Amino acid sequence: MAFLTLDNVSHYYFSTTGYTKALEDISLSIDEGEFVSIIGPSGCGKSTILSIIARLMQQTEGHIKLKNEPLADSSLNIGYMLQQDYLFPWKTVMDNILLGPKINGQITDQTKIHARQLLADVNMAETENDFPSELSGGMRQRIALVRTLITNPEILLFDEPFSALDYVTKLKLENLVAKLMETYNKTAILVTHDLGEAISMSDRIFLMETAPGRIAKTFEVPEELRNEAPFFVRRHPKYQPIFDKIWKHLNDDMSDENKGVTTDERNN
Ligand SMILES: Nc1ncnc2c1ncn2[C@@H]1O[C@H](COP(=O)(O)OP(=O)(O)OP(=O)(O)O)[C@@H](O)[C@H]1O
Ligand SMILES: [Mg+2]
Repeated sequence: MAFLTLDNVSHYYFSTTGYTKALEDISLSIDEGEFVSIIGPSGCGKSTILSIIARLMQQTEGHIKLKNEPLADSSLNIGYMLQQDYLFPWKTVMDNILLGPKINGQITDQTKIHARQLLADVNMAETENDFPSELSGGMRQRIALVRTLITNPEILLFDEPFSALDYVTKLKLENLVAKLMETYNKTAILVTHDLGEAISMSDRIFLMETAPGRIAKTFEVPEELRNEAPFFVRRHPKYQPIFDKIWKHLNDDMSDENKGVTTDERNN
């Protein structure tokens, strides 16, 4: 059964001088526990889709269902993680993590135990009394991930969460997130500009085109890659063929400059 479905979703941004059609007829369906990525050029509407699924705004047209219920009527939690961590600098790591449950009045004796378990899961067990300014960018993103997971979201939305990190930290975090999503059987949507990241983390990839934002093509990641940790996916013999196939669609007008560039060069 489909876990999340978007049916002919379109979205317009209106202003005093006119409007932008950001999304046109987006239809997709995601299964429980599935990890999908959305890739596509800047401005094609990736963040708009996530903001709508996160219920930060409502689509202009179309229908969205989460667990067979209209999204707008659903009270299920949705986790949203962005490039910026938005941790409060004056609060400790633990207080930042517990903020969501506190606001929702859901703090129990178990909540702190759960928070400590999640901190251990992301190898940050020793940091609960630290302040965000004492942590590196990668560590802060791990805390942001714990803060997202503590609300037990039905689905996690990631909008370029690793793009501000250095390459090594990014690879490590990809592995960690993929492992956690599998351990907790979470459904997730990742928006990224990094094709290698999309392939190494996802079961399926939606490629969008722009003006207006539409789904141009959907790619299944080969079965053999889906069960591998992202770091090893990049070294798997099945990786390069799927990379090249999607790359070709991304760059139909590929310039001479890009021809013959290796995977790792393209990723950096
Ligand atoms: N708040 C807004 N008001 C008006 N137009 C907007 C607003 N947010 C986005 N847009 C427009 O909607 C379109 C889709 O924007 P969106 O931010 O979803 O793209 P994106 O794919 O996430 O881009 P990027 O890869 O650069 O993050 C763009 O044309 C953008 O200019
Ligand atoms: Mg965006």
